[in-house]
Amino acid sequence: MTIDVLNDLLSKHINLSVSLDNLDNLDDHAIEKISEILSIPKSNLIKNEEVPSFIFNSKKQIEETKRPIRRGGIHYYNYYTLPSPKGYVAPVLIDILCPKNKMPVLNNGHLEPAITVSLGPNDIYARFAKKINKNTFVKFRVNPDPKTNWIIGSNYYEPSYCLHTYSRATNGPGKILSYTTKSYIEGLFGNKLNENSFNYLKKNLNLKKPNRSFLYQDITNKGYDLNYIHKKTKINKKKLENYFKDHKTKLDLKEITKICNIINSNPSDYLDKKFKEDPVGKYYYDYKDSIKTIRNFKSYEVASIACSARDPDLSGYFVKVDNRTKKIVTDIIDSNCSHYLVTKGNVKFFSKDKKKFNNINMNEGDSVWVASFTEHGFSGSGALIKISDGQNFNYLEKIDLNNTYNLKMTLARGRKDKINWGYDTKK
Ligand SMILES: [Fe+2]
Repeated sequence: MTIDVLNDLLSKHINLSVSLDNLDNLDDHAIEKISEILSIPKSNLIKNEEVPSFIFNSKKQIEETKRPIRRGGIHYYNYYTLPSPKGYVAPVLIDILCPKNKMPVLNNGHLEPAITVSLGPNDIYARFAKKINKNTFVKFRVNPDPKTNWIIGSNYYEPSYCLHTYSRATNGPGKILSYTTKSYIEGLFGNKLNENSFNYLKKNLNLKKPNRSFLYQDITNKGYDLNYIHKKTKINKKKLENYFKDHKTKLDLKEITKICNIINSNPSDYLDKKFKEDPVGKYYYDYKDSIKTIRNFKSYEVASIACSARDPDLSGYFVKVDNRTKKIVTDIIDSNCSHYLVTKGNVKFFSKDKKKFNNINMNEGDSVWVASFTEHGFSGSGALIKISDGQNFNYLEKIDLNNTYNLKMTLARGRKDKINWGYDTKK
């Protein structure tokens, strides 16, 4: 498409000649017609509001988002939302109301992966399956030791469709931070693939080692068969066939690289993977496991929250701030966006946006969301929970940038590109 052709097609619908200089003046009707002609959704044409560099919500603002959830015939949870940009999957705080003598009622799980942290003040129970055992029913504990209780409580990574529910373990209240993030494969379960295609994928994917199916598919996508691969790589034919059929046969990195050199693909995309997880798929840290990871980091002390290589963008840590400086502190910069929740004390949050410094006094219960690549930091005396995800910038985009030719030019040119493909105009 060129602007001239577009204007020709538009001329029977609107009486304005569109150019790159008058796009801001287009009305709804014109945008509608352009989207029809280009056969793309209207939302692709409308400028989105820029993501802010941070969003602060006080405890009071968060409390105003309170809504009750009923389950198992009782008022089961209260939900509160933490500050998040428009359209993002937002983390929630949840009051646990199910009494200790009632077996907590399982939910159905969800596609979105999550990290959950026990916030107290009291221990609660967490249940993960119908059948109760040491992995599926745990005391989700709160750290009672005043020396280390900036590490608030136990925490775990929860994969897709891991069932979960909570009840009180005492007569007192309990609370959790449930950090649910976006699933990058959500589109596949919508109608990105048609029913026929999706069913084929479902039926033919090696469920234990999907990377093997995708390598095999890459080989055939590019017009090669195993016979040819065998001849060129000298890898035993039977071994090659078995590798794609069972889980036991192994090919080492050298052999995978040989195959990938022939088809001109990236061997690291196709290596077998291993994940740290228990029989229900979660990766659990008792608060004592977090304590074992205490370390210095920049001007803080930190300790890890459980995460998984299954969701490379989703991770977090506990932060202890003990820094009475009067100076601006912006010693943290991450590629991922993050939420901070103040769990103890008072801290001052600093951030830098286009050379301008912002600061906010934060008290217990306040929360701030910080965008990717925003210099920020904290002074004062208190504790924070930090959890990050890939909703602003994700690992799939990082892989794509790794693959990008002439990165310097692409980065300079790709942002708000208004240069067209360079075809001749009529005049
Ligand atoms: Fe959940």
